[in-house]
Amino acid sequence: MKFLKPAYRQLLAVMVAAFTFNSFAADSPREHLSLDANWKFHLGDDWPGALHLDKAGASTGPAGEKFGDQAWRSIDLPHDWVIELPFDKSSDTSHGFKPVGPGFPKNSTGWYRRTFDLPAADDGKRIWLQFDGVFRDATVWVNGWLVTRHEGGYYQFRSDITDIAHFGGKNTVSVKVDATKFEGWFYEGAGLYRHVWLDKTAPVAIAPDGLFVYSQFKNNVPTGKAKINVEARVLNTLTNAVKTTVKCEIFSPDGKLVAKDDATENVKGSASRTLKLDAGVSSPVLWSPESPKLYKLVTTVSVAGKIVDRKETEFGIRTVAFDANKGYLLNGQPYELKGTCNHQDMAGVGAALPDALQYFRIAKLKEFGDNALRTSHNPPTPELLEACDHLGMIVMDESRLLGSDAQNLQKWDEQIRRDRNHASVGLWSVANEEFSVQTTPQGGNVARTMQNYVKQLDPTRPVTYAAPQGDTFEGINGVIEVRGWNYHVGQDMDAYHAKHPNQPEVGTEQASTVSTRGIYANDKVRGYVSAYDDNAPSWATTTERWWSYFADRPWLSGGFVWTGFDYRGEPTPYAWPCVNSHFGILDTCGFPKDNFYYYQSWWTTNIVLHLLPHWNWPGKEGQEIRVDALSNCEEVELFLNGESLGKQTMKRNSKLGWQVKYAPGTLSAKGYNGGKLVAEQKIETTGDAVALQLIPNRPSINADGEDVSVFTVSATDAQGRAVPVAQNLIHFDVAGAGKILGVGNGDPSCHEPDTFIANMPVHTIAVNDWRWKLAPVPNRGAKVPEYANDFDDSTWNTIKPKTDGDTGELVLNEGETAIYRAHVKLTEDDLNNPGIQVRFGGIDDHGWIFVNDVRVGESRDWQAQPAFDIKKNLHAGDNVIAVGVRNESGQGGLNPDVNVEITGEPVAAPWSRSLFNGLAQVIVQSGKTAGDIKLTASADGLTAASATVQTVASPGRPSVP
Ligand code: GAL
Repeated sequence: MKFLKPAYRQLLAVMVAAFTFNSFAADSPREHLSLDANWKFHLGDDWPGALHLDKAGASTGPAGEKFGDQAWRSIDLPHDWVIELPFDKSSDTSHGFKPVGPGFPKNSTGWYRRTFDLPAADDGKRIWLQFDGVFRDATVWVNGWLVTRHEGGYYQFRSDITDIAHFGGKNTVSVKVDATKFEGWFYEGAGLYRHVWLDKTAPVAIAPDGLFVYSQFKNNVPTGKAKINVEARVLNTLTNAVKTTVKCEIFSPDGKLVAKDDATENVKGSASRTLKLDAGVSSPVLWSPESPKLYKLVTTVSVAGKIVDRKETEFGIRTVAFDANKGYLLNGQPYELKGTCNHQDMAGVGAALPDALQYFRIAKLKEFGDNALRTSHNPPTPELLEACDHLGMIVMDESRLLGSDAQNLQKWDEQIRRDRNHASVGLWSVANEEFSVQTTPQGGNVARTMQNYVKQLDPTRPVTYAAPQGDTFEGINGVIEVRGWNYHVGQDMDAYHAKHPNQPEVGTEQASTVSTRGIYANDKVRGYVSAYDDNAPSWATTTERWWSYFADRPWLSGGFVWTGFDYRGEPTPYAWPCVNSHFGILDTCGFPKDNFYYYQSWWTTNIVLHLLPHWNWPGKEGQEIRVDALSNCEEVELFLNGESLGKQTMKRNSKLGWQVKYAPGTLSAKGYNGGKLVAEQKIETTGDAVALQLIPNRPSINADGEDVSVFTVSATDAQGRAVPVAQNLIHFDVAGAGKILGVGNGDPSCHEPDTFIANMPVHTIAVNDWRWKLAPVPNRGAKVPEYANDFDDSTWNTIKPKTDGDTGELVLNEGETAIYRAHVKLTEDDLNNPGIQVRFGGIDDHGWIFVNDVRVGESRDWQAQPAFDIKKNLHAGDNVIAVGVRNESGQGGLNPDVNVEITGEPVAAPWSRSLFNGLAQVIVQSGKTAGDIKLTASADGLTAASATVQTVASPGRPSVP
């Protein structure tokens, strides 16, 4: 107890005895604060020596507290710097030809910094810093202390920073992100691409990810009463035991309290304890993708009758299971998984999606009947699961890697604990296509260990493995609960099922059909693939082939299409200039390809009738063009310019086709069910584009600085019809209460930028004419007369001028100290800029920096190129920079490559993007002030379009300013 700070001691007294600590009396002290806004970012590893492992808190450069980062770019999270890089043919194909990773050291390390204040009143709370995911290899410092090193790019990690926090003062977070290594074989992005949080709790509180709520029914059949089990892990960071009461209250989807329970236990000091509670809910409303109704668990923790923590957790009441004959069972009924696999990136934003885009994407998938999503091949961001909970989507939650080593199991443990309360999570996947080990006994052992791990932490959900083998039972397939099928549509599946009739099966990854939106012939030169359902690589199948096969076999449980959305990287079958995959049912923007309508026909109950291709084929008059009808109508009749081309009968899970001699005009179709006309569809030959059109997906968004509206940009002809072949270059202007976040067009071979970064003009003044002399330098940076502006240094030595490639004179011998002085002339105009810093090429070994006789900082790393914010120390006219230097060993001194950097106001870059086959997309993000965001699109020769999105005052999520 002797080390406890006063407020901490007070809190302890309060908890153990009378508990009269008022601020905790009313409600819980827990705060979950976003730390996304107001970061500084620098690309490049310019401070390789920043990490010091010899002494605590001795980090240097940007890792230290004093570093001047105002010349760095200001950004908000989530942020992916790879999206900002140009395409480069020499870089990795599978990662989408962006110059990052092995071979591109300059673009592979990024630094982030921000500060935040902690009020003095927080002293006594526990303070946690949490990262939802950083790609990758993050080193995190707080107040110059190294707090975490975390390698994996897809896992959440956190640090308890209470001990080193400055209560009642400023705190500095520095993060070095090293994306030199890849983890996947697809675009992965780089940076702080998921949210960062600051959590504050009482010393006795629910542990991080310490709540588990799950429902159970007798025999797993959801009738009658559901037993709601709650496990609450209480963490006691005090040194004495505390008698703790945990109370759970369960609220129905319509907000009524329907059950509650409580438990009281002693939790030992410096320990955690899991308290188990349960409650019954009669005739509960069941969660399903079609009816995603969520219950809410409110958990409170009390000590001596006072609440010390309170947490709300949404969950669903439902059952999941597999049956070897009936397939997947949701709420006791066979439920065909009509799923898609997806990577996490999107046009315009790369891997860094604002939450609203998670909802946008899940809603898009649902449009064609998708009811399941596989988070291939890594744990998702939590907001994706929230979107799936709320919009209704069953998630196959996948680990990044197979492994039963301590580190991998620890990650698996954290993934399960983090995700197991989500109603949407309906299946765990231990890994994907572990070619080297999957058929070995060791592979089987490891998978079994991971599977058993799930059973310990989550008794409710089955486990699978995405297996790329055929009729193989060796290794993982022989031990895994649910046999996963990646590809192998055909004999292998039937043979395997006959041999292992009691093992449930699911199509973990199917299709990999390739198609480009709006393209109707393969084009190797431009890297496009026809959108007719014709093309699939050797291991894959067409859309119709896989689905009609699976639909006929209930024991296969349905499956997951590779993929819902196109993603960056893995261009298949062609590489450069193609930079994207083509596997999507939707392109990278979420614009539907034709296959979308195949799925919509057979995965929804909507009446669907869609024709392809478009009908703009000048020069092809009289030539035969294949026309397909994607429909679930029993019969479809096709017409060209009013003349029937015949009626055909649709086979279930199939499509219809005609060869049509092209003539411009109207291609139309009628769909019939039971002989009755139920659907009509027409496509017309359009004229040239004359005007632009802008349509936001949401006309009103929250003014919280995070929300987005996604604009579709298209071109119309004189009759107002969308021109499906328009490729115009469009310029965008945004005015008012928001900004453009990114642009895209779904073109897999487009090399135009997705982001246009506002430039911060930097005017650099070289500081030359240094004078120096050997002189005593006080170790702790105290002042000496030689630092003063008016000190006469005219008799001092001069430094040999720096020549190219030369770092100047390093003249100090071991143990020597010296003072260096130089003058910098600045104007009033210079001083009016937002930031001025001085950057040193190197101070060998220790340096104390003074500007106009005021100490501005210290450098303790001879390899660092330290920079210091000096704007407030300057005046118009002559300024003096003085540096005291102590050389510890070898040759040392001041590298005279010193610059004053004046950073101006950021200059907005003009945004543009070409239409690809008639469409482009602009993602617009709100600011924090309510108002209108006006987006204008213009292009040479076309009438411009404007559209407005309103941003509505919103408190936003609780956040650190
Ligand atoms: C699979 C693999 C996916 C993707 C896909 C392309 O074998 O699991 O990540 O590469 O092939 O068809």
